[in-house]
Amino acid sequence: MSSFRWLWVWLLLHLALVLCLMLFNPTPNPHLAKHNGAPGLPPPHSSATIISRRTPPPCSCNVRLLKDFFKNDNGTVKRRQEEYRKHKARASSTLDLLLVAPANSPLQYPIQGFTVVPLKGTPIPGLGVYAPERQIYKVSLVVSRGVLSVKPIGMDGLVEGDGSAYLNITALGADKLNTILGRVHYTSTVYRLRTGDLVHFIFEKHNATFPVVIEQASVPIIFDPGEDINSQVTITTKTFLRYFELNTMIYSIRQYYKTMKIIIADDSFNPIKVNGSDIEQYFMPPAQGWFAGRTLAVSQVTTKYLLWVDDDFYFTEYTKIEKLVEVMESMPELDMVSSMVGRSGFSYRMTYEEGEEDEGGCLMRFRGPHEETVPGFPQCYLSNVVINFFLARTDSLRKVLFDPRLKRAAHSQFFVDAFGKLLIAHCNHVVVDHQTKRPGNDKYLSFRKKNENDENRRLYFFKNHFSCINLRAD
Ligand SMILES: *[C@@H]1O[C@H](CO)[C@@H](O)[C@H](O)[C@H]1NC(C)=O
Ligand SMILES: *[C@@H]1O[C@H](CO)[C@@H](O)[C@H](O)[C@H]1NC(C)=O
Ligand SMILES: *[C@@H]1O[C@H](CO)[C@@H](O)[C@H](O)[C@H]1NC(C)=O
Ligand SMILES: *[C@@H]1O[C@H](CO)[C@@H](O)[C@H](O)[C@H]1NC(C)=O
Repeated sequence: MSSFRWLWVWLLLHLALVLCLMLFNPTPNPHLAKHNGAPGLPPPHSSATIISRRTPPPCSCNVRLLKDFFKNDNGTVKRRQEEYRKHKARASSTLDLLLVAPANSPLQYPIQGFTVVPLKGTPIPGLGVYAPERQIYKVSLVVSRGVLSVKPIGMDGLVEGDGSAYLNITALGADKLNTILGRVHYTSTVYRLRTGDLVHFIFEKHNATFPVVIEQASVPIIFDPGEDINSQVTITTKTFLRYFELNTMIYSIRQYYKTMKIIIADDSFNPIKVNGSDIEQYFMPPAQGWFAGRTLAVSQVTTKYLLWVDDDFYFTEYTKIEKLVEVMESMPELDMVSSMVGRSGFSYRMTYEEGEEDEGGCLMRFRGPHEETVPGFPQCYLSNVVINFFLARTDSLRKVLFDPRLKRAAHSQFFVDAFGKLLIAHCNHVVVDHQTKRPGNDKYLSFRKKNENDENRRLYFFKNHFSCINLRAD
């Protein structure tokens, strides 16, 4: 009797369970199922790795295209295309490919961080197969810019193609296979400073792909900061027909920094030797221009940092270089930090899209810095374009420099060239003053005001490969 009751209870429970399953797990709607996976991803049972090239979409800046200005200059347009292709070939590698890891794969392999020195054999870490037991295991490893070898070769299984780009390993048992996989070495056959290879790791129907970074480690360039601010910072400036202002500035600097080295690039027509100690004055051919002079001055710096000043600035008790050094020291990734000139301390951020290969990129500039601040310095905002009063890491600045083709007030060009290369912040807790403008230096003003629109446009179109640039995007 009681066993019958239990049977009923059991049957009812079972029915309830089946009902529940039907309610919460309805027969799959084929239309819905189709949209389950993200587009382009393999269906869950295949283990093929998808590899596709990133092709940037076209971009726009809401301003006139630069190519409109070069309509009658097919030579320039053609050379621009060719040079850009060569640039891409220099700058891109296999490492830019998109790799998607296969689903349900029994393969184990390194995803990131497998870096080798060119031409040097390096064991591939983390290779393994974790599949249900079978009698015989056969895997293949295929590369294209190097060779594979098993060292030492051992007696655990059969290795075919040792020392070639296509390695087959056969073993009886997973343990033996994984022991051999632990001894597989990759050796690049190309000497490049930074490039990559892809390894295809194949086991039965599973095929995974992972990258190898082939990179020659570079030698560090480190500056000894010494014991005090004078051994850490050099003041650099460029002057042209303004000795009165220059002398006034040097006088003001010496009130606070008596022995800090000052480097002056001078392209005046009738250069005059500047008086004072710890000053290096470099005479240039006359009117070589602002950017040429800045690059010359920067090239002569031997300290870790340089402070850029214009020749008509004036130091006060608020011009504390130490405070800018403190910001730089607190954030090693930072390359440049600017601060206030009197009450002005403009700061912009920029966006850049690569654009289509033949059309070119789009650069837009917006008022104001980024929202992110330097940790510990809430008054210092990350930024892309800053004012002409900045402390910079000397070796970082030397990687960008100032294009000597620009002779006058081409402020933005430097920051365009520096975009994506230098990390910049703008602060407001250090202030340098501007000297009051003296009337009557007409010769200086006539040079400064010369229009460089055509030259700028050519650089933006050709050198920076822009389709358009909008410096007032907001
Ligand atoms: C430049 O090339 C375009 C298209 O290839 C052509 O239509 C145009 O006539 C050429 N202009 C000159 C000045 O050669
Ligand atoms: C490795 O295996 C593949 C496919 O099974 C074959 O095509 C290739 O010839 C083999 N390579 C060697 C060196 O035996
Ligand atoms: C493995 O995948 C790569 C990339 O999809 C492909 O090039 C290669 O031919 C595949 N090899 C095999 C044996 O499936
Ligand atoms: C340096 O001193 C000399 C002699 O007093 C003077 O002639 C010259 O103008 C001074 N240089 C500058 C740049 O003022």
